[in-house]
Amino acid sequence: GPALRLGIAGLGTVGIGVVKIVQRHADLLAARTGRKVEITAVCARDRNKNRDADLSGYAWESDAVDLAKREDIDVFVELMGGHEGVAKDATEAALASGKDVVTANKSLLAHHGQALAEMAESLGRVIRFEAAVAGGIPCIKALTESMAGNQIRRVMGVMNGTCNYILTRMEDAGLPYATVFEEARQLGYLEADPNLDVGGIDAGHKLSLLASIAFGTKVAFHDVQLEGIGRISIDDIRRAGDMGYKIKLLGVAQMTGRGLEQRMTPCLVPATSPLGQLSGGTNMVVVEGDSVGQIVLRGAGAGEGPTASAVMGDVADIARGLRLSTFGIPASQLTEATAAVATAP
Ligand code: NAP
Ligand code: HSE
Repeated sequence: GPALRLGIAGLGTVGIGVVKIVQRHADLLAARTGRKVEITAVCARDRNKNRDADLSGYAWESDAVDLAKREDIDVFVELMGGHEGVAKDATEAALASGKDVVTANKSLLAHHGQALAEMAESLGRVIRFEAAVAGGIPCIKALTESMAGNQIRRVMGVMNGTCNYILTRMEDAGLPYATVFEEARQLGYLEADPNLDVGGIDAGHKLSLLASIAFGTKVAFHDVQLEGIGRISIDDIRRAGDMGYKIKLLGVAQMTGRGLEQRMTPCLVPATSPLGQLSGGTNMVVVEGDSVGQIVLRGAGAGEGPTASAVMGDVADIARGLRLSTFGIPASQLTEATAAVATAP
């Protein structure tokens, strides 16, 4: 078929990762999708910034909305971030001008996913976001496709690499929170607003998206019971260790008789369990289905290669002609969930 033409908005960690995969794996992508996947145009704030990729073959746009409207792109790849302003405006402009959208932006989807998915469907477009939840781990595909024959009982996991890095590093090196926080920044794990990470908000965004997919309910980020890791001290971590536990920022979403329970809070988990053994910037998503039982997915939840890998998985689906719903079922069929407050953490 004809080449699938990408417009990439945002050339930071993830955007440059996507450029590199398109360049390095052009043949693989063509073989697997039956089409050439190519980049037509790119956009970032600063054209003169030194970036770790050759962008000379691509048109440059200084305005993401202009990029989104270009006639020579088929897919708008939104990798700028933020849930108001340019990310939202450009995503809407892309859909309105007949483009499909792939994004890694959990904040955008947690706040506007319902409206964007409805807009996409009414226009016959798709908007997909595998990279937004647990980076490189294909958890959205697992839920919507591989586990289609299951009623989902529960989704849980560690979905913020920065918090997991900080907690494990505090424990392993006996270093204070502030020092480890700075290391995480150096590693490029942190969101532009670090409180999104350490406040549990970023992980809460991800959990609310997975809950919507798992239970067929509208995204209800504001119903997530949230608590970050800012109050965890080395002493807390040591006391937990003495009892055979680790402290993890753990998310749990489950449908109960009282409604949908969603919580993202520091929890004690047995040190020898898979969750307890999860270290560094790694993420883990645990899914329980009535047919398959429990599935544990583990891998890099952030970073250039892993996040770009998930972006390209969505791009490849579009190249193959797969028109998948954003949340697994049509957005108009998602139901309003009653929020249940968890009784015990
Ligand atoms: P980043 O390194 O900060 O890069 C953001 C890029 O967006 C930069 O190239 C920036 O331009 C560009 N940008 C920002 N505002 C813009 C505007 N108004 N117009 C045009 N371009 C603009 O961010 P990132 O880490 O790649 O993250 C991108 C998205 O992926 C975010 O939604 C993030 O939450 C999500 N995500 C990131 C990771 C990760 O591991 N980093 C993992 C999963 C999801 P300049 O370069 O010129 O400043
Ligand atoms: N800041 C996020 C994290 C990036 O630490 O997990 C990936 O979404």
